[in-house]
Amino acid sequence: MTEPASMEKIVSLCKRRGFIFQSSEIYGGLNGFWDYGPLGAELKRNLRDTWWKTMTREREDVVGLDASIIMHPNIWKASGHVETFADQMVDCKTCKGRFRADHISSIPCPQRPSKTVASCAEEKTEPRPFNLMFKTHTGPLESDDNIAYLRPETAQAIFAQYKNVLDSSRQKLPFGICQIGKAFRNEITPRNYTFRSREFEQMELEFFIKPDEVIAQTQGSVAQWHEGADLSQPQPNWGWEMWHRYWVDQRTRYYQSIGLGPDVLDYYWQKPEELAHYARACVDILFKFPFGTEELEGIAARGSFDLDQHSKFVGKPQDYFDEEIKQRYIPHVIEPSAGLDRLALAVICAAFHEEESTDDKGKKEIKTILRLHPKIAPYKCGIFPLLKNKPELVEQAQNIYRRLKKQFTCFYDESGSIGKRYARQDEIGTPFCVTVDFETIEGIKEGPQAGLLGTVTLRHRDSTQQERVKIEELDQRILPALS
Ligand code: GAP
Repeated sequence: MTEPASMEKIVSLCKRRGFIFQSSEIYGGLNGFWDYGPLGAELKRNLRDTWWKTMTREREDVVGLDASIIMHPNIWKASGHVETFADQMVDCKTCKGRFRADHISSIPCPQRPSKTVASCAEEKTEPRPFNLMFKTHTGPLESDDNIAYLRPETAQAIFAQYKNVLDSSRQKLPFGICQIGKAFRNEITPRNYTFRSREFEQMELEFFIKPDEVIAQTQGSVAQWHEGADLSQPQPNWGWEMWHRYWVDQRTRYYQSIGLGPDVLDYYWQKPEELAHYARACVDILFKFPFGTEELEGIAARGSFDLDQHSKFVGKPQDYFDEEIKQRYIPHVIEPSAGLDRLALAVICAAFHEEESTDDKGKKEIKTILRLHPKIAPYKCGIFPLLKNKPELVEQAQNIYRRLKKQFTCFYDESGSIGKRYARQDEIGTPFCVTVDFETIEGIKEGPQAGLLGTVTLRHRDSTQQERVKIEELDQRILPALS
């Protein structure tokens, strides 16, 4: 490792290799919007799949939802977004720029970039609220009667469909509904690359639990969080504090499973005065980005706020009938809410490494290696013939490529030296490379390496170690690393 990853290098790699492009770049771009290229699309898909697998497929108590982006506007009145989903904004009276009030001491002044907006001498307005929801209209008329909003979070769709899901899937408390989907916020100052965007994807779970009073009634006591509590086995008498800690623990395990360990994560327990009006507690899981340690996911204990609000607005209790005690009540909620785009950026930052090496002619060069966890790497295996002008090598390499790509993503490459081809795969995080050489098709007749017929070189990205593996054993060698 030569030096810590810088955002400049990461942004350059992402563009050069096709992870992330500026949206509408040929028209000069659009601030706060990003497109994912071929490698970014694969990376995001892998992240989505790992989240979905852990949050619902591997569990018996969580089901999925895929709701529409535009919903009835009253949902956003009930949730409080129409009234309060706002950031404080200031205007510069000279340059007419608009800035988020809590960012002005770190944003450069557009006219004098050596100063920040706060330190530039021009007069600014008093802070005033700016609602972050994007507005649109449904139907052919644009009037106040048909205003709709692009959802600023996926969570509210889960609350709005909670009754339907409950009735159709026969879940019993505690149970959860999870969703992955686009969310939109008209951020005043989008920044730090994809970190704060205006269009982004969320991965959210609303986990419905019994209120503590009901647990006390049915179990006789409520277990609250205490140091050293075993979080691995949920218990019937767990109160909200235990469930909250349980989900912090589960989400930490998830991040570890995709290569984000304690060295790159941190936690922030919000102080009571910092909590959103609906939250009883909230923990932010933070990632150490090159531009600072920032939120990756928030895990909030939301009480019954949302279901109470929707009950009030629709005039029908969004409750649950508890068979055990023959009573109806409104469940409470624990909400782990993560951003997919922030996660994609975090795994790229964590994986980014540089190494000094010497090329074939003895010249020193810096190589980039993206040490992505094999599970989330866009390509799992690069496949190369040693020489492209030897049809027998090319044919065998293509056969291997066609066979392996049915099981996982592979990249076939026959141009340049083998060293260059390895370097190209290292730079995009491909964990394995396979090279077909003369031994593969001719074998070695004598000596200690005799009998290599039908074998290839399998090269490992992180150790750079190479080994001879039988062609028919390649899948078994690679597949375990991907699950
Ligand atoms: N339902 C709760 C909720 O939406 P949030 O903290 O506002 O909570 C949850 O958002 C997650 O969504 C954040 O932790 C972050 O990962 C992601 N997120 C929020 N705003 C974002 C933005 N402007 N750009 C990218 N990701 C964002």
